[in-house]
Amino acid sequence: MSQSASPILVTGGAGFIGSNFVLNWISERKGRVINLDLLTYAGNLGNLASIEQHPDHVFVRGDVGDRPLVDRVLSQHRPRAIVHFAAESHVDRSILGPEAFLRTNIHGTYHLLEAARAYFGGLGGSEKEAFRFLHVSTDEVYGTLGPEDPPFHENTPFAPNSPYAASKAASDHLVRAWVHTYKLPALITNCSNNYGPLQFPEKLLPLMINNAIAGKPLPVYGDGRQIRDWLFVLDHCRALDNVLEQGRVGETYNIGGGNQQANIDVVHMLCDLLDELVPDSPHKPHSQLIRFVQDRPGHDRRYAIDARKLEGELGWRAQETFATGLRKTVQWYLNNRPWIEEVTSGAYQNWVHANYGHRGEEANALSAPAGAL
Ligand code: NAD
Ligand code: TYD
Repeated sequence: MSQSASPILVTGGAGFIGSNFVLNWISERKGRVINLDLLTYAGNLGNLASIEQHPDHVFVRGDVGDRPLVDRVLSQHRPRAIVHFAAESHVDRSILGPEAFLRTNIHGTYHLLEAARAYFGGLGGSEKEAFRFLHVSTDEVYGTLGPEDPPFHENTPFAPNSPYAASKAASDHLVRAWVHTYKLPALITNCSNNYGPLQFPEKLLPLMINNAIAGKPLPVYGDGRQIRDWLFVLDHCRALDNVLEQGRVGETYNIGGGNQQANIDVVHMLCDLLDELVPDSPHKPHSQLIRFVQDRPGHDRRYAIDARKLEGELGWRAQETFATGLRKTVQWYLNNRPWIEEVTSGAYQNWVHANYGHRGEEANALSAPAGAL
């Protein structure tokens, strides 16, 4: 698409979902992207290496809570939409240190909303008509489900249980209030657990893949029977495209894969895939590396999404099954060892120590070099 078309502003576009979204947007020639990201531990310009020189990608390092900077970016680039991914996103980190979650997810979103409101107020005519603010959120705002409960729908009351979920719920409420009070043309999406390429190996799937390849323990929290509704990241990105272009202003859309799996089953599936894809691995069968470790405090038992509104109104369907998506994901991590090695060097080891050091002997071995196990 042409460079003259109005760009979109993406926040957090160097993280897992944001970078997949930006790469997909550019490869589908949907127009220019201004990518505002603070590059915290979770942000990685390496994710965007393939579009480093691309004329349709402009990277700006900065904080969504930095109002003067966001004002400048908006007035300079005049985006037709803001897609807001930037957040602290990991539940375990929120348990060990909630403050950054309040700062970015609540305060940061507040400042971004205020900047968007001022910018929107200065638009006129068709620019004003077209402007959208898309807030990317999580199913964790709804809390936890019992085994027989129906999946979360858009009217399920919020009941967040972790500092992460509470901070995202607060940001969702802010967006809702800015729509209602100030008529900001915003939309909210609440998505289930994503997996796929470029996910930082603190989250379940990449952590397990990375550890299994290295012959390190696979730390399953509690009894491993917690259920998540897994969605391949590009299916999430395609849903966001749909909501951005066709969603009704002020509405919330739940996004999910209709794919509920217990953690322990997911880890076994990963191990079986690795046995198949790395037949000469000295760690085969990889399932021998599984260790049950001390549970996460306040661990939500089950998430499941009812995505019928998105499917019915906007015609979205997940394209990947869990089997096809998982195979692509494992293959990607096997083919991208330098990426993993880079992101797990340095400060990552401190995180492993902080999160797993207290979970028992078996988990402690995670911090040890592979050869020492
Ligand atoms: P991530 O942690 O991989 O990436 C977050 C990105 O935001 C990083 O690039 C980081 O540098 C950037 N960032 C953090 N604080 C910032 C700040 N103050 N200013 C600017 N940039 C900042 O997260 P993710 O998994 O890609 O999630 C993206 C969004 O999607 C989040 O809002 C998250 O709540 C939501 N979400 C994630 C999932 C999931 O399974 N990962 C599911 C549903 C919704
Ligand atoms: P995670 O990827 O952290 O996502 P979320 O907490 O947002 O759902 O965790 C997914 C599930 O995997 C969750 O039930 C916690 C569990 N888990 C483990 O059992 N071991 C681990 O080392 C991690 C990181 C997660």
